Amino acid sequence: MARPGLVITRRIYEEVYTSLQAEFDIRADNQATDQPWDIQALQQRIAQADYMLCTVADKIDASVIGAAARLKVIATGAVGFNNIDVAACKARGVLVTNTPDVLTQTTADFGFALMMATARRISESERYARAGQWSGWAFDQFAGRDLHHATLGIIGMGRIGSAIARRAAGFEMRVLYHNRMPSQDAVAATWVQKEQLLRESDFVMLVVPYSPATHHLIGAAELALMKPSATLINIARGGVVDDQALIAALKEKRIAAAGLDVFENEPKFDPAFLQFENVVITPHIASSSRATRGAMMQLAADNLLAHARGLPLLTPVA
Ligand code: GLV
Repeated sequence: MARPGLVITRRIYEEVYTSLQAEFDIRADNQATDQPWDIQALQQRIAQADYMLCTVADKIDASVIGAAARLKVIATGAVGFNNIDVAACKARGVLVTNTPDVLTQTTADFGFALMMATARRISESERYARAGQWSGWAFDQFAGRDLHHATLGIIGMGRIGSAIARRAAGFEMRVLYHNRMPSQDAVAATWVQKEQLLRESDFVMLVVPYSPATHHLIGAAELALMKPSATLINIARGGVVDDQALIAALKEKRIAAAGLDVFENEPKFDPAFLQFENVVITPHIASSSRATRGAMMQLAADNLLAHARGLPLLTPVA
């Protein structure tokens, strides 16, 4: 019997590739160059696929889904799946899976790392030292802001938000959070309205999924509520923050700093961010440890393998 056809949009680790070869006829992959495919390339390749493994950077819109003639499952190697038109998939009977849980701790580590790097001016001071500008020690050199005993406001207390709150307890931070509903497993954190969180927090950490409901959740009005000494950290998604409003707030020093792992229109984020020494910029790497990226790819692969073997999907999206 012919093996089902699989398309893999980006380079994956060899061990994951090998596990897929056991079950699938891999019709297209990106192992050689790992250059993102444009919409036409996605449309062309999806037409031959029974199964697809994609990433957060592939835009699987209705036009791509429309080109799928025999597709059964799309497995994305990410927890967020706003890049996939799930309604269009549903309408054509295509199932979608994501990779929750396996990236929670690594992503929480990164949220904390980005917050600390921003508060303690790590990138800025390293640029200075590397440029050979360090001519002597001084009391006020790169004086930053303390995390310990500061107030952390987490917007989005899901699995990753809770893991960040647990780390914050070790730093003796006061933790506020905002979700639509108070969370059952929020560890030592207090639910407050978004406005109160923005007014009182020294660090505002965004961990919500992107959807029309969270589009520009942080815009000019929200930034205006933050303290001039406060720092914004975004490890959620581009589009959760109105980047133009953030650039204006940074220009006018209405907030102190920002740590940004995600941007509107990434990877082509607004170069205006580059003018700010007090902005730490990373290229959407919050879940990127070797072990966790491997686990994400393997979970995406395991979903496809399960379906091809007639077993239930491991992590279908809701
Ligand atoms: C990464 O951004 C993810 O959603 O897993």
